Amino acid sequence: MPLSIVILAAGKGSRMKSRRPKVIHPLAGKPLLQHVIDTTRQLAPQQTVIVVGHEADQVRQALAGQDCDFVEQLEQLGTGHAVQQALKAVTPGNDLLVLYGDVPLIRAETLLHLQQQFEEHGSSVCLLSFVADDPTGYGRIVRDETGSVIAIVEEKDADAETRAIRESNSGILMLRGGDAADLLGRLDNDNAQGEYYLTDTVKHAVATQRPVHAVICEDEDELLGVNNQRQLAGLEAILRARRAEALMDRGVKLVDPGRIDIRGEVAVGSDVEIDINCVLEGEVELGDGVRIGPGCVLSNCRIGAGTTLLAHCVVEEAELGASNTVGPFARIRPGTETASDVKVGNFVEIKKSHIGVGSKINHLAYVGDTEMGARVNVGAGAITCNYDGAYKHRTVIGDDVFVGSDVQLVAPVEIGAGATIGAGATITRDAPAGELTLSRAKQITIPGWKRPSKN
Ligand code: UD1
Ligand code: CA
Repeated sequence: MPLSIVILAAGKGSRMKSRRPKVIHPLAGKPLLQHVIDTTRQLAPQQTVIVVGHEADQVRQALAGQDCDFVEQLEQLGTGHAVQQALKAVTPGNDLLVLYGDVPLIRAETLLHLQQQFEEHGSSVCLLSFVADDPTGYGRIVRDETGSVIAIVEEKDADAETRAIRESNSGILMLRGGDAADLLGRLDNDNAQGEYYLTDTVKHAVATQRPVHAVICEDEDELLGVNNQRQLAGLEAILRARRAEALMDRGVKLVDPGRIDIRGEVAVGSDVEIDINCVLEGEVELGDGVRIGPGCVLSNCRIGAGTTLLAHCVVEEAELGASNTVGPFARIRPGTETASDVKVGNFVEIKKSHIGVGSKINHLAYVGDTEMGARVNVGAGAITCNYDGAYKHRTVIGDDVFVGSDVQLVAPVEIGAGATIGAGATITRDAPAGELTLSRAKQITIPGWKRPSKN
């Protein structure tokens, strides 16, 4: 049968002490719930149904544009009640995989294994359990003398003997499509919490001679939930470590895997090196031999092979060519593209510009809305004045131009190929190719001039 994913996300999450609903708090830059959605996509489900309740509109908004159906659970009467609500949106007969929106680290491999066991055993209910060091708070998996699962007993309903069981319920389970409606229909709220427990589907399946199985998950980290800010930070650290390890497994040299934050998807070539305290966000592509110095922030960018970012550079929505050297302390803003062998030095900001092969902008400059040719040299303190207070204008700089220090190029303006612009010039009209253009009062000396002095 096709698969429907059901994600429970109606809970309030009051221990987060936040106005934001828990399931949309960001983890590694994306909402908790989004992690679960993205992971389950790898099972190619026919549909994804999200049960929302508390601040339902905010949750819906945060996930707008996704291929998901939302079902509202007006009162949080328990996990079983939540799945009953989801059934209203589930294609009849589909098998169900139920997950929690606040358990984001579950791996696709684990879910695929659960699904495979569910199929292999022809389970009616197949749940994911784990052996907890400290099972406090979890539902306990009760097995009979043959080892078959016969019930899940919530901690609050458990006697001392049951509480001593360490095999615990992760909350993640699969339900056979043909049985789901019947099993969920049998739930009642006659228990310590007065809730409709999803976990009671196990005892009803057993009572109606339907097969129940449990698959043990070895890695407890995958099943950690988020209830408060401390746990969220704990998960962030686990994910950070996982991603750092994945990069190292792909051959990246990390100076300290404990000091890198990967909040997106990183594609890497061979022999990439990343120094400490870097943040990589969104989609980042690093070519062969790229070296990233300490303290860099890279967001949605592509860095060409052999390029080096020195310390403390920020690169955002930009594409750097091969064999560039950038920084330290450079800011490459959206829409910047550099060709190969470009040098960008300290305290240089570049925005929405194309920089040609071998050009150098080495110190303290601003280049915005500029088309720059090859082998251009931009002196210290040079600035493109691209904004007149109302509109942005373009600057065009030809090949082999030399822009002296402290020049202002007042856009729109064009500097012809091979031109030289003398230091300190304010260029408001196009400068011809091959010539020296200056805008400078002649230097004079007043002989014998004395500074004023007090008597
Ligand atoms: C549940 C399980 C327990 C398991 C534990 C794992 C039940 C009865 N118990 O307990 O066996 O060990 O998870 O963490 O299922 N939710 C709704 N609507 C509701 C109630 C809950 O959407 O009416 C959502 C919550 O937002 C949360 C998830 O379901 O994401 C789990 O709910 P929670 O109350 O935390 O369940 P536990 O009591 O921890
Ligand atoms: Ca919980």
